[in-house]
Amino acid sequence: MLKVDLDQPDTDKIWLAAGFIRRGGLVAFPTETVYGLGADALNADAVLKLFEAKKRPLDNPPIVHVSDVKDVRRLVKEVPSGAEVLMKQFWPGPLTLIFKRSDLVPSVTVAGLGTVAVRMPRHEVALALIRACDCPVAAPSANLAGKPSPTSAGHVLDDLDGRIDVVLDAGSTLVGVESTVLDLTVCPPLVLRPGGTSLEALREVLGVVELSRVVLAEEALSVGEVRSPGVKYKHYAPDADVVVVEGELGAVVERVRGLVEVYKREGKRVGVLCTDETKARYVGADVVLSLGSRGDLAGVARRLFGLLRMFDCEKVDVVVAEGLPVEGLGLAVVNRLRKASGYRIVKA
Ligand code: TXA
Ligand code: MG
Repeated sequence: MLKVDLDQPDTDKIWLAAGFIRRGGLVAFPTETVYGLGADALNADAVLKLFEAKKRPLDNPPIVHVSDVKDVRRLVKEVPSGAEVLMKQFWPGPLTLIFKRSDLVPSVTVAGLGTVAVRMPRHEVALALIRACDCPVAAPSANLAGKPSPTSAGHVLDDLDGRIDVVLDAGSTLVGVESTVLDLTVCPPLVLRPGGTSLEALREVLGVVELSRVVLAEEALSVGEVRSPGVKYKHYAPDADVVVVEGELGAVVERVRGLVEVYKREGKRVGVLCTDETKARYVGADVVLSLGSRGDLAGVARRLFGLLRMFDCEKVDVVVAEGLPVEGLGLAVVNRLRKASGYRIVKA
C-alpha cells in the first residue's frame, strides 16, 4: 500500500505502480467515484487476471480509463457528435460512455461485445497513473464481485489483500458511487447505470436521454419480499440481508420500526440504515447508521458503500434501509440500495 498525495501525487510511487501495470500486473487506485483495480486494457492476459482477482464473471466487462480525450479515438470505431459534447462538458468526471469498439481492444476487455466503455476520471492520482502507464487502463471497481464498491484503500484490502500488486492510497473518494454509464450506440442515448453524473445534467445537454428499465427495476416487483425475476445475484451487498423500505417518509419510519421489532423477536441482530432526520426513531435496533441529511444527497452517496461495509464489521444479520428520493444522485443511491437488497423492497 503506497500513500500518495491527493493533489500532487509522488512521482516515484506513481512510476512504481505504473511499472506493475506495464508488466501485466494489477494496481488499485483512487478515482473521484470509487477505487478501481487497474490493468493494461490492451493486454488480454492482464485483463484476465483482473477478472480472476475480483472473482468477476467473464461476461461483465470493465470500464477502460483514459487520461486524455485524444486517447478515445484508437479505442473506438467512431465518436458520435453527442459524445464530443459530453466529453467536453463532463470529462474528466463520473461519466462512462459506451462506443462501438475498434479492433485494437482485446475481446476479453469487452467481454466479447462489439462495444467498449470509456471514461476519464477526475482524480489527479488516477490521471497521473494512466499517463505513466502510457496505455488505456481497464479498471472495474476494486472489490470482490458482489460486494459494495470500495471508497477507501482499506476497503480494497479488506477484499483483495494478497490478490493484487499495489494499492495507491489517497484517502476516501469524493463521489462515493460509481460513474454513470451512458450508451451512445443507441438512439436516444440510454443510461445503463445511474451514477455520479445526474440524469438531469445529461438531459440538459442532450435533450432526450432514456433510463434503462433495469435502473429502477421496480415494476418487476410487487409489494413485500418478492424478488425481481432473473435477478438472482446480489450486488453491492453486505453479508447481512438487506430490506429497503420505500414510500412517504412518515410511513417509512413506522414500517422500519415495525420490521425492526419483528426481526428482534426472531432473535436477530438488526441494523438500520437511515438519515439524520430519522435516526433518533430507531432505538429498538442494535446498530443505527445515518447516511447524513436527506437534503444532502451528494453526502448520502459519498457515505453509502462505507456504511454498508460497516454493517458487516458490526455483524448484523439484517439491515433495514430507508428509501430515498430518486432525484439527482438519489437515483444512483436508490439503484444501489435496491440491488444490495436483492430487490427485497417493502412499500410503506
Ligand atoms: O466509477 C466507476 O465507473 C468505477 C471507477 C473505478 O471508474 N468503475 C466501475 O467499474 O464501476 P465496474 O467494472 O465495476 O462497472 C462497469 C459497468 C458494469 O456495470 C458493466 O457491465 C458496464 O459498466 N459496462 C462495461 N462495458 C460495457 C459495455 N461495453 N456495454 C455496456 N455496459 C458496459
Ligand atoms: Mg463494480
